[in-house]
Amino acid sequence: MKNTLAGPVPVALTGITRQLGPRDKAALMGHFLRLNSEDRTMRFFSPVGDASINAYVEAINWARTVLIGHFAGARLVGLAEVIPTGPRWQRCAEVAVSVEPDWRRHGLGKRLLDRAMAAARAVGLRQLRLVILPDNHTMVRLARGLGGKMRSDSGVVTAQIALWPERKMPAWLEHLAGVLASAPTQLVETLHWPHRLHRRAA
Ligand SMILES: CC(C)(COP(=O)(O)OP(=O)(O)OC[C@H]1O[C@@H](n2cnc3c(N)ncnc32)[C@H](O)[C@@H]1OP(=O)(O)O)[C@@H](O)C(=O)NCCC(=O)NCCS
Repeated sequence: MKNTLAGPVPVALTGITRQLGPRDKAALMGHFLRLNSEDRTMRFFSPVGDASINAYVEAINWARTVLIGHFAGARLVGLAEVIPTGPRWQRCAEVAVSVEPDWRRHGLGKRLLDRAMAAARAVGLRQLRLVILPDNHTMVRLARGLGGKMRSDSGVVTAQIALWPERKMPAWLEHLAGVLASAPTQLVETLHWPHRLHRRAA
C-alpha cells in the first residue's frame, strides 16, 4: 500500500504512516484495546474500560476528525487523532496521540504529531491544543518540542500550538488603532490631516 503521507522514516521505524478512514475502525479499536490501564489514563484521562473504548470508536465523526496512524502490517501501532473543537470558524482542534509500548522511543510519537499538524494545516485549522496529565513528562517534552505554549491549569498541562504564524497588522491599521486608542485631540488632528496617516503607512 502507498504511503499517502510520505516523508523521511527513521531507520528503526518500519511500516507505513497514513490517514485512517471508517474502514480502519477494527484496527483502531484493536490499538486502543491494547493500551493498558495506565496508558488509557494518559490518553483518555481515566482508565476507561473496553466497553467505553468501543463506544468512543463508534462515536467518531469521520467527516470532521483526522486520524493519522502508523501500521506494522495490519496492526495499528500508533495513532494521532485531531478532533476539531468549538465552532468551525474558530478552526481549533485538540490532538491526542498514543503509541504501543513496543514501538515507543523510536520517534513515532513525534512523527505522528508532525503528520497530524501537517494534516490539520491542510484542512485549514489554525490552532492545535494538547491536554496532558502533568506526570506525562514524555508528552510534555514532545509538546514543548513542537513549539507549544505551555500552561498549567486545573490539574492539567495545556500546550497551544499555532499552525500558522500570527498575521501582522498592516502598518496603517496599526497606526489607526493607536490613534483611536489615544487622546481625542490627536484623533481630530489625524482626521484633519489624513495624508499624515498615508505618509506614515508608506
Ligand atoms: C507519549 C507517547 C505517545 C510517546 O510516544 P513515543 O513514540 O515513545 O514518542 P517519541 O519516540 O517520539 O519520543 C519519546 C522519547 O523517545 C526519545 N526518542 C525518540 N527517538 C529515539 C531513538 N531513536 N532512540 C532513543 N530515544 C528516542 C525521544 O527523545 C523522547 O525522549 P524523552 O521522553 O526523554 O523526551 C507514548 O509514550 C504513549 O502512547 N503513551 C501513552 C498514551 C499517552 O500518554 N498519550 C498522550 C496523550 S496527550
